[in-house]
Amino acid sequence: MAIPKLKKELIPNHVAVVMDGNGRWAKKRGLPRTAGHEAGEVALFDVVQGAIQIGVKELSAYAFSTENWKRSPEEVKFLMGFNIDVLRRRRDEMNDLGVKIQWVGRPNRLWKSVISELEIAQELTKRNKVMTLNMCINYGGRSELVDATNEIAALVSKKKLKPGAITEKELAKHLYSPKMSDVDMF
Ligand code: FPP
Repeated sequence: MAIPKLKKELIPNHVAVVMDGNGRWAKKRGLPRTAGHEAGEVALFDVVQGAIQIGVKELSAYAFSTENWKRSPEEVKFLMGFNIDVLRRRRDEMNDLGVKIQWVGRPNRLWKSVISELEIAQELTKRNKVMTLNMCINYGGRSELVDATNEIAALVSKKKLKPGAITEKELAKHLYSPKMSDVDMF
């Protein structure tokens, strides 16, 4: 029996992946948490290929949340270094696949070395059109809204915006990546 083809209209445009459970996966196997993150990397880039195969145009991966700073200093250090390694290991492969890498997150507190790897990956892949991979690093939904609200408040105090005239469109302009499409599926 032939496997039916996926209907184009059923393919989501933007899929978001919460990379949770790496530590639990490792613990179950008697491995260190770091081994779970390594397996998470393999799983994520398998998902990237699958997403490209079925025609997803945007994939968001939550790699380090603003809450993750509460982890032990050792794990934070590991995760910062790990994100750098992943970007170095994968950027050429992503570029060859036509993937545009985009960082979504807050610069404040994030290691400068991570930001600079993100910038290198963004620059390398900026013309790619097959799919966008949003790497959410030092990202939090609430912190994004707080940062957007502060920008809007500054415009209001300079009288460039009226308090009653703030619209969804205005709010969207102040999000980390204003052009990003809404997520269709988590
Ligand atoms: C959550 O698992 C996972 C993380 C905090 C890190 C995941 C990051 C990667 C796989 C690297 C991806 C890199 C880029 C640049 C996109 P957890 O530690 O919360 O596991 P638990 O829920 O079992 O405790």
